[in-house]
Amino acid sequence: MRLVVTGGAGDLGSRVVRGLAGRGHEVVSASRRTGVDLATGRGLDAVLEGTDAVVHCADDTGAGDAVTVYGTRRVADAAATRGIHLVHVSIVGIDDHPLPYYRRKLRAEQGILAAGGASTILRATQFHSLAAYFARALTKGPLTFTIGDMAFQPVDTDAVAARLVELALGRRPDAPTRARDLAGPDVLSLPELATLVRAHRGASAPRVVHLPAVGATMHAFARGRTVPPPGTADLAGRPFVEWLAEQPAVLTGR
Ligand SMILES: NC(=O)c1ccc[n+]([C@@H]2O[C@H](COP(=O)([O-])OP(=O)(O)OC[C@H]3O[C@@H](n4cnc5c(N)ncnc54)[C@H](OP(=O)(O)O)[C@@H]3O)[C@@H](O)[C@H]2O)c1
Repeated sequence: MRLVVTGGAGDLGSRVVRGLAGRGHEVVSASRRTGVDLATGRGLDAVLEGTDAVVHCADDTGAGDAVTVYGTRRVADAAATRGIHLVHVSIVGIDDHPLPYYRRKLRAEQGILAAGGASTILRATQFHSLAAYFARALTKGPLTFTIGDMAFQPVDTDAVAARLVELALGRRPDAPTRARDLAGPDVLSLPELATLVRAHRGASAPRVVHLPAVGATMHAFARGRTVPPPGTADLAGRPFVEWLAEQPAVLTGR
């Protein structure tokens, strides 16, 4: 098969590229560094020529609607017109979530449904690296700040990539489809995550400060909306602690 991976040089996309290539398929990465700009559509038609499936991993969280919403719609329309199976990665818990990025991810999904082609949407929870970032961002010195029942069920990025590979190589659906949501094996509260992340660099457990939730977005996180309800998600990949053990002592990035 010939497959295109948008954002094929990104954290998730590069793993999808390796997974597909490792199974002997022809894989083409599509992003600005290869001449494809989803904010404008430049290069998209050409790269999709003769393609069986496209795995859409490109995104730019800092570009507003340009890539997340309109770029996704461009990919969805171009795939639908050509009968190409679109496999899209989204996020667990974005229905009615007030966080602006999650609202854009929901609109991206709606654009795919409106395009009407053969598509599969996979919603995944936060990757381990992002959960660790949240824990670091909410820790100041010996204090970790949390709100209500803020918790995550983070997933190994490799497990998400593997599922996307399976979906792209699997049966092409006749219409827009949702795969079962994907999450990691453990639910961890923000204080638990912060304790693990601090222990990883040899620091003691933090003192936890509970803050009141102010505003709709904080209320959504306080209610643990990022954790899939029991039984609604497939569980896959290494637990957070195993992933963390393989990271350098000083964590960086998201
Ligand atoms: N991180 C998480 O916890 C998480 C959880 C669930 C779902 N997801 C989803 O997973 C996806 C991938 O996330 P990631 O962390 O792997 O992203 P990433 O590492 O930031 O990679 C994004 C890729 O998008 C490409 N890109 C950016 N702007 C573009 C444009 N205008 N046109 C074409 N390509 C563009 C970039 O390549 P160039 O610079 O070459 O353009 C880059 O390779 C996102 O859709 C995200 O919502 C993430």
